[in-house]
Amino acid sequence: MTPYAKPRDSLASLAVHWPELIPYFEEMDMDYCCQGNTPLEDMCNQANLPVRRVLKDCNKIIIDNGEQAVHWENASPGKVVEYIRDHFNRGHQQAFEQLIPLADAVLAEESERLPELVPRLYQMIRWLVDDFAPHLHREECLIFPLAYKLQSATAQTIKPGLHALLEPLEQMEQEHLMAANLLNELKSITSNYCPPIDSGPAYRELCDVLRGLDSTLRRHMHLENNILYPKLRQLNRLVAAG
Ligand SMILES: [Fe+2]
Repeated sequence: MTPYAKPRDSLASLAVHWPELIPYFEEMDMDYCCQGNTPLEDMCNQANLPVRRVLKDCNKIIIDNGEQAVHWENASPGKVVEYIRDHFNRGHQQAFEQLIPLADAVLAEESERLPELVPRLYQMIRWLVDDFAPHLHREECLIFPLAYKLQSATAQTIKPGLHALLEPLEQMEQEHLMAANLLNELKSITSNYCPPIDSGPAYRELCDVLRGLDSTLRRHMHLENNILYPKLRQLNRLVAAG
């Protein structure tokens, strides 16, 4: 990759090579995690953003921040898994545990004042938690052990059926996409997680938890979709080829 971002670079490749761009993509609502194959230029056109200005911003960030962010291209799958566990999945679980009681409190306190918004918000939070908590469990039980197995496998030691275990990766990617869609809608209906000035403490806290979860979930999905899963597929091909 050349030292500068170019219009036809995909968002995923930019986020992989220059992770310091991720906060900027988040700020500009550019989906680098689940629509990562989209070229920067096309994403700008879809979002009505000026391509030249976005490229200029990206290149300034790359030049200014250089090597400060964590780079994953040469890390082993086990290292990526360790990071996802330590920095994201435990935090997601804690956020889910906070979200349900907060959503209950907001439903009780704000339904009368915001009858259009609150039931929809509540339903979407339930969908997000109900869908993503089992996703985290499957990662722990299936995907992460697979990453360690593939990392140490050779053509001689690979067990029959290990290839078939890669099939759930597609399901995981689908679940990421569903979560990203829910986050997009949650962000939209809460006006970027900004509570109205007259809202109560439960709604304010709910917005804080959702804002944090939005950022960490997207980073989780980026690390898996654009770094861990391609590594596992590549390793599987190498091992299978002997
Ligand atoms: Fe995941």
